[in-house]
Amino acid sequence: MVIVSLLLLILLPQSSHCVDPSPLQDFCIADLDHPFLFINGFPCKNPTQVTSKDFFYDGFKQNPGILNTFGANVTRADVDLFPGLNTLGLSIVRVLLVPGGINPPHVHQRATKLVLVLEGKILVGLVTTDDVFYWKIVSVGELFVIPRGLIHFQLNIGEENGTFFASFNSQNPGFQFVANALFNSTPPIPVDVLTKTFLTDGFIIDLIRSRFSIESLI
Ligand SMILES: *[C@@H]1O[C@H](CO)[C@@H](O)[C@H](O)[C@H]1NC(C)=O
Ligand SMILES: *[C@@H]1O[C@H](CO)[C@@H](O)[C@H](O)[C@H]1NC(C)=O
Repeated sequence: MVIVSLLLLILLPQSSHCVDPSPLQDFCIADLDHPFLFINGFPCKNPTQVTSKDFFYDGFKQNPGILNTFGANVTRADVDLFPGLNTLGLSIVRVLLVPGGINPPHVHQRATKLVLVLEGKILVGLVTTDDVFYWKIVSVGELFVIPRGLIHFQLNIGEENGTFFASFNSQNPGFQFVANALFNSTPPIPVDVLTKTFLTDGFIIDLIRSRFSIESLI
């Protein structure tokens, strides 16, 4: 018993390591300009060249003016835009939804997401791998957590703009709209696959496809 418990104690923390790996140094500001070096993450900028600015990001100062097809504006602060996050295992986004606006069903393959509503009333929902739907109307000051890899969405059900910040336990959480993956891939998935998947005919598939454009990915 004692040995089994000890083994569990040693093994458990490791088996729960399903987020970005821990940093091996104080920092590793991403050097994004290495087109021919393909590693997991980004190489570090020369530490002697690092300045205070590398730990700073002001991308959220700008008001979210431009909206996408779904009435949403997503402003990201991930490693691509904020290289100081490299190896630190976290990132954050701000999402503005106009009334009725939606952040359609999507997945973050590499991160759990914690939503904090700052403005408005947002319906947040997720579907588990058993197809159980969990949801909640999340108001100002409230949090909702979306476990890694599950399909989820946010819909502004209020009469005013809704804004939330969402933090991720990955510098690069991954982001994929379910509908875009199926109806707006490059090159397109064969119609046959989609008619059979959705138990429908080519006309309906073409109709749905025609509604999607590259812009709607933004
Ligand atoms: C809602 O957000 C949009 C986009 O940022 C903005 O143009 C609009 O003025 C906002 N509405 C209100 C009532 O603040
Ligand atoms: C969100 O709004 C900002 C400010 O207008 C804009 O720079 C940014 O491109 C918008 N984001 C998207 C994804 O349209």
